[in-house]
Amino acid sequence: MNHHITLLAALLTSAPLAADTLPDRQTELPAVAKKANTDYLTPRPLTAIPDTEFGRKVKYGYSLFVDSQQMRGRYVGNEQNCVNCHMQAGMKANAAPLWAAYTAYPAYRKKNDKVNTYGERIQGCFNYSMNGVPPGDSSPELVALSAYAYWLTMSGLLNKYGLPEMPVPELSDAELILGGKREDFVLPAEIAADFPVSERGNLAGRGYPKLPSPAQEPSIARGAQVYKTTCAVCHANDGQGIKGADGAQYFPPLWGKDAFNWGAGMHRINTAAYFIYENMPLGKSVQLTEQQAWDVAAYMNSHERPQDPRYRGDLDANDQRYHKHQGYYGDAIDGHKLGSRAYPTATIEPQPGT
Ligand code: HEC
Ligand code: HEC
Repeated sequence: MNHHITLLAALLTSAPLAADTLPDRQTELPAVAKKANTDYLTPRPLTAIPDTEFGRKVKYGYSLFVDSQQMRGRYVGNEQNCVNCHMQAGMKANAAPLWAAYTAYPAYRKKNDKVNTYGERIQGCFNYSMNGVPPGDSSPELVALSAYAYWLTMSGLLNKYGLPEMPVPELSDAELILGGKREDFVLPAEIAADFPVSERGNLAGRGYPKLPSPAQEPSIARGAQVYKTTCAVCHANDGQGIKGADGAQYFPPLWGKDAFNWGAGMHRINTAAYFIYENMPLGKSVQLTEQQAWDVAAYMNSHERPQDPRYRGDLDANDQRYHKHQGYYGDAIDGHKLGSRAYPTATIEPQPGT
């Protein structure tokens, strides 16, 4: 068996992941400063998705991505949609676009010799950002979400390399969830030569661009002021966002029971500051000063939210083990230790067969 087939076989036969393996799925991205190169991949319009069995998976993935609430109670445990943090249907550069993520997996982690497939990275967002239970490796949902990301990436690459007429090659479900950072990933020769495996995690526009360290220590008090004047109009004074008359959440909650949980990447002050600086307030991004972005990120993340799903009854132990980064989990703020009155993690039972 060659190396890749071994990898594939190992992935397909792997047992459901134990709680201990959860952190591997939510590794902090190596944030880099915004690149001068703004030659971002431009996927084909969604209307170009073919009406084939494969195309229908892609369209289903799009629909799950923008309206994740259709998975509420099954895989999603809060009021979030993937698109809330991966904006413009996952296409916005510098808002962790899918077209820059797909070719960054499978990502190998030297530390424990584990491999994180694209599907496993998505599963991490279900555990933490969606405060839910991830769909299984061969579930239609995981395949569809992977197919959508693949289609954005491959159509963008074909266009970039002057192959706008070439249809996006179809992949099997098992290949789709792996991601494109592998030697046996199907790419036309001219693209493969210019886009070696070693470069595939480095596309301009990936993730949320890193900001320099703040001049002053982030301040929750100053952040509260920024929040009031710049954010509350959409996310509400109490951080719960705004619902429409139909009960649908139009502006997402930033903390509280329906927000991302204490294990999500967005609870880190730095990740939130990068996201906010680049993407908020909606429609007027890059309007805050860097210091304001750090301050408001600190304010947002000084509130209780659903518990970190890795919590096993001992807050300090969980803090020690998983929270060695910029966040307030386990810290006392105004006499309240964050995480000690967290909201429940997903109140959904794992689905049979997932
Ligand atoms: C609350 C915000 C939030 C929501 C909602 C969310 N994500 Fe994420 N996602 C993040 C953050 C933060 C990261 C990691 C960024 C970092 O570490 O810099 C991330 C990373 C990712 C990555 C890897 C990106 C890369 O370049 O490696 C993928 C893929 C992804 N998310 C898919 C999804 C999917 C699919 C959903 C819905 C099921 C979803 N996300 C929901 C915030 C979110
Ligand atoms: C004009 C309305 C508006 C304003 C003002 C605004 N936001 Fe948002 N925000 C949104 C919407 C809408 C989304 C979801 C984006 C989407 O789905 O495309 C969002 C998403 C977010 C997210 C993603 C995380 C999540 O849990 O969904 C964060 C964090 C955030 N906003 C923080 C802020 C901060 C901090 C400010 C003030 C500096 C701010 N926003 C100002 C409308 C707004």
